[in-house]
Amino acid sequence: MNAVELARFIPKAELHIHIEGSLEPELIFELARRNGVALAYPSIEALRAAYAFTDLQSFLDIYYAGASVLLHPQDFHDMAWAYFRRAHADNVVHAEIFFDPQTHTARGVPIASVIEGLAGACRRAREELGISSALILCFLRHLGEDDAFATLDAALPWREHFIGVGLDSSEVGHPPEKFERVFARCRELGLRVVAHAGEEGPPEYMWQAIDLLKVDRIDHGVASVQDPLLMAELAHTRLPLTVCPLSNLKLCVVRDLREHPLKTMLDAGLCVTINSDDPAYFGGYMNANFVQTTEALQLTREDVIALAKNSFEASFIDAAQRQAFVAEVNRVAAAA
Ligand code: ADE
Ligand code: ZN
Repeated sequence: MNAVELARFIPKAELHIHIEGSLEPELIFELARRNGVALAYPSIEALRAAYAFTDLQSFLDIYYAGASVLLHPQDFHDMAWAYFRRAHADNVVHAEIFFDPQTHTARGVPIASVIEGLAGACRRAREELGISSALILCFLRHLGEDDAFATLDAALPWREHFIGVGLDSSEVGHPPEKFERVFARCRELGLRVVAHAGEEGPPEYMWQAIDLLKVDRIDHGVASVQDPLLMAELAHTRLPLTVCPLSNLKLCVVRDLREHPLKTMLDAGLCVTINSDDPAYFGGYMNANFVQTTEALQLTREDVIALAKNSFEASFIDAAQRQAFVAEVNRVAAAA
């Protein structure tokens, strides 16, 4: 089996997926009809045609508009269940899933509807597909720290349903330091902490995520290649980076997938993983990201195996589960 075939076949964990970014245009229209929500686009085709992004903000505007059709627990369940079925087809065996409660509570949707709908889909994925999963609550960084504290408080009655918190939305102008106190509180509560940094923002934002937020992982982190000291630090600590190649291409972080820094980062010894970010908007789920990156950067079988192992090393599963998944990667790689 060549590297591309192995990339499709190998078991993997997905660690950077915004569940609202898995909402396909077909489901947006179905939920809009079901819930009587008016959309700004006359058809599925017209909506899809608007997916021509120039930067992160141009995407976020459409992404938040798409999420406006989500009202009831069943809607959140249906969205996540559709994601799990696609992930299963791509041999994703474990997923750690971001959700943005503020996007929904700001429209009057109770946080219970969001979390219970998603948690129900996670249970079903375990039972019917054998996929393990966990939820990560993300704070919107274009809003203030007070809003993040209020969201944390509102979510705490459902504490057993999420393993950690993250930081997403518009990066530039909203540095991690803005959320230092709320992240400290989350760590005290025993939550895992991750943050988007170095997607469009500078390496300085990645340093802040490490030094001030004390993150367990960085989401994106492609700006690391601009800072040799940061590269050395990340190689030394193996702090994982959840990289999303097709997202970087669609949001014009890179001009061409052949110019993507993932191979440079991997060769420098960083714990890099491949993920889909917002697959309904960026042209593909996990295997599309794995396959297109493998082709564009001429990754070897060894690179593909390292990426799959990194995904389990970087995940928040326990040591026994991790060992079992890595053993399965080794078994599949040896047989294929
Ligand atoms: N929210 C959803 N996708 C995102 C991304 N790629 N960066 C920041 N916030 C996001
Ligand atoms: Zn993201």
